[in-house]
Formats: sequence, structure tokens, C-alpha cells
Amino acid sequence: MLSEDQAFALLKRRLFIDRGLDCEQYKENYLKRRIAVRLRARNCRNYLEYLRVLRVDPEEYTQLLNQLTINVTQFFRDKDVYDKIRDEVIPGMLKSKGSVGSRSLRVWCAGCASGEEPYSMAMLLDHVLGNELDNWNVRVLGSDIDDRSLAVAREGVYQDSDLLEGMDQDRYFKKLETGNGIAYQVREHVRRRVKFEKLNLFELEGRRHYDMVMCRNVLIYFSRNVQARIVEIIASSIMRDGYVVLGKSETLSHASSALFQAAFPRERIYQRVPGTVRPGVAKGAISG
Ligand SMILES: C[S@@+](CC[C@H](N)C(=O)[O-])C[C@H]1O[C@@H](n2cnc3c(N)ncnc32)[C@H](O)[C@@H]1O
Repeated sequence: MLSEDQAFALLKRRLFIDRGLDCEQYKENYLKRRIAVRLRARNCRNYLEYLRVLRVDPEEYTQLLNQLTINVTQFFRDKDVYDKIRDEVIPGMLKSKGSVGSRSLRVWCAGCASGEEPYSMAMLLDHVLGNELDNWNVRVLGSDIDDRSLAVAREGVYQDSDLLEGMDQDRYFKKLETGNGIAYQVREHVRRRVKFEKLNLFELEGRRHYDMVMCRNVLIYFSRNVQARIVEIIASSIMRDGYVVLGKSETLSHASSALFQAAFPRERIYQRVPGTVRPGVAKGAISG
């Protein structure tokens, strides 16, 4: 008979083998809290009983993964951050691009949940560039590990309550009549600049040349050394003077702080310090 600790270790192993989720990367307390929700939902008294449920009902894996990768988000989450990006960061980026004759802007939202964050960035760039937009090659990538969230993101349809007051709704959303009432779809001129991809942050490889990477409210789920490793990989994806934006409750670990300087610390906006990433770090998955 397995002890609770052994059953917990086995559960983590099953999640890795069956679903590719490396639980060792998450903080243990976080994992236990989230798994406990599913134990209660399936009336299991311990991890062993829950392992039996997973064996006879593999659909439960999906519920468990959804529970582990909570995907709460909203348009223009933390308005002050987007204000700073609009007023300081984007003008700085445009100037830097102008000095090297580039007309390309690439933003990556890693851990984008149902897409509100990448769409917000595409709307913001549309707003700032205005009539100049067509002279620029603007691309926004949204990535996440969660299929359900990505399906919502690709459709780009949201309920009224999801939209932020004061946004130029008519410019960015088309009203739809659905069976369940009114919904709003992000307009085509924004959607065509945003692509979505399924990407596990533990298996990032060789992505390059982003001007800004937003990785907000994602790192908090991971242990400190994994955070540092992810930040190092993200740093290697960013142009030499590009930016990374974290969530308001997140900070760069001491290990990562040499890679970036705090451009706007209150808003958790950091700028890459050129030449500080080990060559080849973008290749290969994270291992502990
Ligand atoms: C709280 S949401 C953050 C959404 C958005 N960045 C924001 O700040 O509003 C966290 C997202 O991280 C994703 N996530 C968790 N673990 C991940 C992993 N290993 N790889 C990629 N995405 C992951 C979850 O699926 C979830 O959608």
C-alpha cells in the first residue's frame, strides 16, 4: 500500500507520462491546493483513490489540467501597465526601430489564456500607430498550454461583461447575435495580426526577435529556479533592447536580474541588457 507521499509522487508521474505536464516545475503547495479541488469534486479521500478515478475515467485528466492551469484574464488587465506601454514603451520602440530602418514589431504573450492580452496589445498598437499602421509589419503571438483557452482565443468572441469600459468598442469589436444573447467578436483588422499557438513554457525552443514578451501571472505558479530558467529562455527570444513584462505580483529573481534592467519597476516592465544570455540557451527544454 502506497503512503500519501508516494501516491502524490505517482500522481505527478502519471501527469507527466500521460499528459506531458512536468509537475516538478510547479510549487508543491500550489499543486496540492489545486489537486485538492479535484479530489473533493470526485469524492476521493486521498491521492490513491484519485489515481483510481484517473485510471477508469481519463476524461478527469482534462478537468485536472484545467484546474492546474487556471486561466483568468481580462482585456487591458492592470490599466496602468498598458498606459505605460502606450506612453513610454511603444514610442521608445518605434524610435529604436526607426534608427535601424526597421518597420517590424513583434510581441509575444506567453501564457495568454483566452486571448484578451494579445488582442489588447494588438489594439494598443493599432491605436498608437493610427494611420501609420499599414506601413508596419505588426505581429502578435499568443501562446498557452491549455487547448480550451486557445480555442476561445482563436474565435475571439467575448461576452459584454468581459469588455473594459471606456474602450473604443466599435472600432475593435463586432456585435454578434448568438443563441445565448449578444456577444462581441474582435474585428478582423485586429485578429489578422494575432496568431495563437500551443506552447508549453517548459519546452520553449529557439524563438527569436521579439520586441516585447509579456509573461504575466504565469511565473507565479512555478518554483524560483524554474522561473529563472524560463526568464533566461525568454530573454534569448527578445531583441537586444526589447522588453519583458511580468504580472504585478511577480518579480525577477536575483538570478534573472542581470539579464534585464527595470525600465518601469512599478509596472513590472523590464528592458533587456544586451549580451547577457548564454549562447544556445533557447534550445532545449527545462530540466529542474
Ligand atoms: C492566470 S493566466 C494569465 C493570463 C494572462 N497572461 C494575464 O495575465 O491575464 C495563466 C496562464 O498560464 C498558462 N500556463 C500554465 N502553465 C503553463 C505552461 N507550463 N506553459 C504554458 N502556459 C501555461 C495557463 O494555462 C493560463 O492560461
